[in-house]
Amino acid sequence: MSPLEILKYPEIQLFEKSAAVSEIDAVLQNQINQMFETLYCSDGLGLAAPQVGCLQSFFIYDFSRRDDEAKYGAGPIVLLNPEIIESEGEELADEGCLSIPGYFEKVRRAYRVQLKAQDREGKDIRIEAEGLAARLFQHEIDHLNGVLMLDHLSSLKRNIFIRKFKKKQKYAESK
Ligand code: CO
Repeated sequence: MSPLEILKYPEIQLFEKSAAVSEIDAVLQNQINQMFETLYCSDGLGLAAPQVGCLQSFFIYDFSRRDDEAKYGAGPIVLLNPEIIESEGEELADEGCLSIPGYFEKVRRAYRVQLKAQDREGKDIRIEAEGLAARLFQHEIDHLNGVLMLDHLSSLKRNIFIRKFKKKQKYAESK
């Protein structure tokens, strides 16, 4: 098995809405395994299916490489058709995205969320999370709706990002 290519901004698929997962079959399990392989080759904590070009509503994550893993229920975990059913509080903290490598910016998110989803066998589950895990859930669910962390920034910060991105692109093309 080899890692999949992680799509990078401004790839069009990153802005599309994913379809619900309805069939839990060998194709899906294989896709999940390949996504874990891809995640472990990166320095990220989570990966949403659209980031590897699969427009299906699920994401994977694993906190077990962090020292404070116990706080987050560790991993590896797959959440199919995840939905936020409750959110509470607010927190502004640094965030990054494997589809926007090297870019980190403060994003405002709910501090605590409750999700309903299915696990990789299709069993209904509910998960509660706060802090970093709650942030990850919100970030990954955004991916399933074609939303990037950039969409949460002020228009000023977003414009600075776009300007710098275009400059970098131009520079790369000129070489
Ligand atoms: Co991301």
